[in-house]
Amino acid sequence: MSEIIFEVTKQHLETGLRGYPVGYCTTSSVDAQKGLSYVGHSISEFGKKDPVEIIYMLIHGREGESKEVALLSQDLQKRASLSDKVMKSIQGLPKEGHPMKLFSSAILIAGMLESTGDYKEDCLNIIAKIPLIAATVIAHHAGWELNKSKPELGYMENFNQMLAVPNANPDELLNIFKVFNILHYDHGGGNLSAFVGKSVASGLEDMYGSLASSMCALAGPRHGKANQDCLEFTKVMLEHLGENASVSEVEELLKEKLKNKELIYGFGHAVLRVEDPRASIFYEMASELYADHPLIRMAMLLREAGPKVLKENPKVSNPYPNVDAISGALLTAGGFPFPEYYTVLFGLSRIVGIAVQIVYERCTARDGKGVAIYRPKYFYKGNS
Ligand code: MLT
Repeated sequence: MSEIIFEVTKQHLETGLRGYPVGYCTTSSVDAQKGLSYVGHSISEFGKKDPVEIIYMLIHGREGESKEVALLSQDLQKRASLSDKVMKSIQGLPKEGHPMKLFSSAILIAGMLESTGDYKEDCLNIIAKIPLIAATVIAHHAGWELNKSKPELGYMENFNQMLAVPNANPDELLNIFKVFNILHYDHGGGNLSAFVGKSVASGLEDMYGSLASSMCALAGPRHGKANQDCLEFTKVMLEHLGENASVSEVEELLKEKLKNKELIYGFGHAVLRVEDPRASIFYEMASELYADHPLIRMAMLLREAGPKVLKENPKVSNPYPNVDAISGALLTAGGFPFPEYYTVLFGLSRIVGIAVQIVYERCTARDGKGVAIYRPKYFYKGNS
């Protein structure tokens, strides 16, 4: 008899499949208490590594020797270009609407013209090309000049130099872009964008189409766009209370907002029941580098006041900050004060984990047969 690992009751219906076991994930896992780990290692070990070292680990399920990482790095450099036709098509996209819409479209366009139809090949291809895709989208949308791609500079080094963000200190920003990139690669198998990408791939849509759909999932304010919305919230708090606000003033304003049924951004998570370790890494960086920046000060006050206030409500299952509570403030303080591109930065990173997860589901799962087409059951209810 097979082991029962989860009993479904009526209370589980219409809860967004919260906690339902669906399959296996080879890249990462999220523990309610310990948070995110990549292939069995806590995310807190990785803040200072090079992106390609982590990409190697996610692809191969283990840390790579330096030679192996160097080979992957060379391979990615060779694959990092886009044809003129793809570049021109992306640069011809309308600028109206959120940049995530351009980003998802750009991935579809790249797939229309450059997909090989082979999941493993296209996993490496898209990981290699995504810094150029993201930089092209941002520069086009923002009206900035895009520097020529030089993949030999390094994965995020190239992204940073292509974008050459106006008025930023490039070294400072590179440091933040790198950490941001590493911390957002993957978050278990069941986050919405990963789940959507794998579901679409289960119908045998190619890698690019599957990832474009996962980026549409990421674009929603309850998922990836939360990083943009959290920064706006932190700014509103700062505007209301000023640069010399105290913790108790922040607590009072949060209570008032809750009383008025307004949303408090940057707290809670579907799985985590502690402060998100990704947020802890960002808080540490922020207080080392930009402790006096008004937005960082406010984000720190919110870190202290938020859990105190939210704990008073017994219905709140996780009163602690998540990664979005601080990532935007850190990007702003580090020289990237452009919130509408924060979710594109999230997508630039998350493509890596989802692409690797898709390869597992399509090529390895069930002894190579691949995961079956996603087809959960819905009960007919009519309109009543
Ligand atoms: C993520 O990084 O994907 C978010 O924290 C959301 C999630 O894990 O469900």
